[in-house]
Amino acid sequence: MKILVLKSSGNKRGSSNMLADAFIRGAKENGHEVTEFDVIRADIRPCIGCNHCGMNGPCVQKDDYEKKLKGMIKEADMLVFVMPVYYYNWPAQLKTVIDRFYSFTLELTYMHKKAALLTVAWDDTDTVFSVVEDYYHRICEYMQFVDCGMVLGGGCGTPAMTKRNKAINEAYELGKSI
Ligand SMILES: Cc1cc2nc3c(=O)[nH]c(=O)nc-3n(C[C@H](O)[C@H](O)[C@H](O)COP(=O)(O)O)c2cc1C
Repeated sequence: MKILVLKSSGNKRGSSNMLADAFIRGAKENGHEVTEFDVIRADIRPCIGCNHCGMNGPCVQKDDYEKKLKGMIKEADMLVFVMPVYYYNWPAQLKTVIDRFYSFTLELTYMHKKAALLTVAWDDTDTVFSVVEDYYHRICEYMQFVDCGMVLGGGCGTPAMTKRNKAINEAYELGKSI
């Protein structure tokens, strides 16, 4: 299976990418082909809602999304969203990746791709992931993605904290389970 890992932190060796590495290790051990894409280092502009695409056509934004990422998303069997929590929510650049589904929403929903979420936050409270988790579930439902699971890394505020957090092993096990 082709797995596309969408990373969204500016910290290359940060906590969310540590979870991504563990997941990838598990997935590769199972023989999957994994491609990583750093959305934070790409030129991805927001959807401006012009409706030029009619939800099923080329986007007016001629950026890395239209030229490259859209094709990578179409090709993948599974999308893995990797993110630090920002103010109880998804970081803007990764949310933009979702908004830009708009130009191929119909096509994408018919593909029934698999999906997973790997996320980290400084806090380790009952509520820190509630919005993140809820949004992920709504997107899976709306886009007809098959949810393969989530790792919610509470108490993963720095790489030193994350290194000894159970979320690393959970991410590895999730990769292994695919
Ligand atoms: C803009 C911003 C907003 C944040 N908001 C939250 C938050 O709402 N709750 C929380 O627990 N941590 C919050 N954090 C902390 C990060 O989620 C945490 O440090 C995480 O480990 C960073 O992951 P990274 O190393 O992959 O970048 C925030 C950090 C930043 C930079």
